[in-house]
Amino acid sequence: MVSIILAFESSADETSVAVVKDGTEILSNEIATQIKSHQRFGGIVPEVASRHHIEQITILVEKALADAEVTYKDLDAVAVTYGPGLVGSLLIGLTAAKTIAWAHNLPLVPTSHLAGHIMAARFVKPIVYPALALLVSGGHTELVYLPEEGTFKIIGETRDDAAGESYDKVGRVMGIPYPAGKTIDEMAHRGKDTFKFPRAMENDGTYDFSFSGLKSAFINTYHNAEQRNEILNKDDLATSFQAAVVDVLVDKTKTALKQYPVKQLLLGGGVAANQGLRAALNDMLIEFPNTDFIPVPLKLAGDNAAMIGAAGEIFFRQGRRGDWSLNADPSLEF
Ligand code: KG4
Ligand code: ZN
Repeated sequence: MVSIILAFESSADETSVAVVKDGTEILSNEIATQIKSHQRFGGIVPEVASRHHIEQITILVEKALADAEVTYKDLDAVAVTYGPGLVGSLLIGLTAAKTIAWAHNLPLVPTSHLAGHIMAARFVKPIVYPALALLVSGGHTELVYLPEEGTFKIIGETRDDAAGESYDKVGRVMGIPYPAGKTIDEMAHRGKDTFKFPRAMENDGTYDFSFSGLKSAFINTYHNAEQRNEILNKDDLATSFQAAVVDVLVDKTKTALKQYPVKQLLLGGGVAANQGLRAALNDMLIEFPNTDFIPVPLKLAGDNAAMIGAAGEIFFRQGRRGDWSLNADPSLEF
């Protein structure tokens, strides 16, 4: 089925509108980031985020249609992130999507932000099931089993902080502007793992994660050194921190692959841009020659609407529809 989908994403601090063909081809993907407005607060301020979404959304719709060289008449459906995320932010994208769907008599396809992060892999190559996904973002850290298209089973998740959140929190301690992930990733390639931070829940028999102990260990090390007027090597701190995060993510994924033999391992979410993680997963997969590794492209790892078009196309084909009563669901899973 050929389909042209207009997709909306506004769950956090990126406003994005995209036009996606057949769930696999990006015709346009407009992203307005608000990072600068939130940086001085060290994280997202929900009220500020909502206001920026309102300012941007209609501008981005026009840009997305123009860049894709389509008009409303060419569209087959409207897909929208309705959760998880900040309720005030989600409502802006949702209201815009509903309005356009209603005005142009188009089906509305409610789409999970998490399904979007995982389905961004569709822009690399067709997904072959069963597949396993490691979803690592600022808000989520999950291992998800996909037995068939459109079905997502969470087999493990973080019990406290998300991986990206822990990067941002230790970044803040070191005075790195939010979001700190990319900078710490770069520093990590210059240092050595001298601090040997704890790897939590590594051999506990679950697929769950915990990053708050690592964060505390990092912060204690940093502050204790400060009190002694001792200057620690920040690159070594970054390397040691990243090694602990990557070790746990790779270890749990490896154990999951043994229990769930899959054709593909998908890697999505903002932290999927992490070079250390990509390399370590790639190395680990040497032990699984029948499993193909599909990390999402770097520019589609963070929040964007094209990924919502990729996931939304599956739900659209499967007949999922939202009506005008569709509400934002801040704690939605899939
Ligand atoms: O998926 P995303 O854009 O937003 C959420 O849905 O949360 O992820 C943002 C997160 C931030 O915590 C950011 O620090 C992290 O992704 N991040 C990285 C890297 N690039 C972005 N973390 C580690 N290494 C990176 N290269
Ligand atoms: Zn996200």
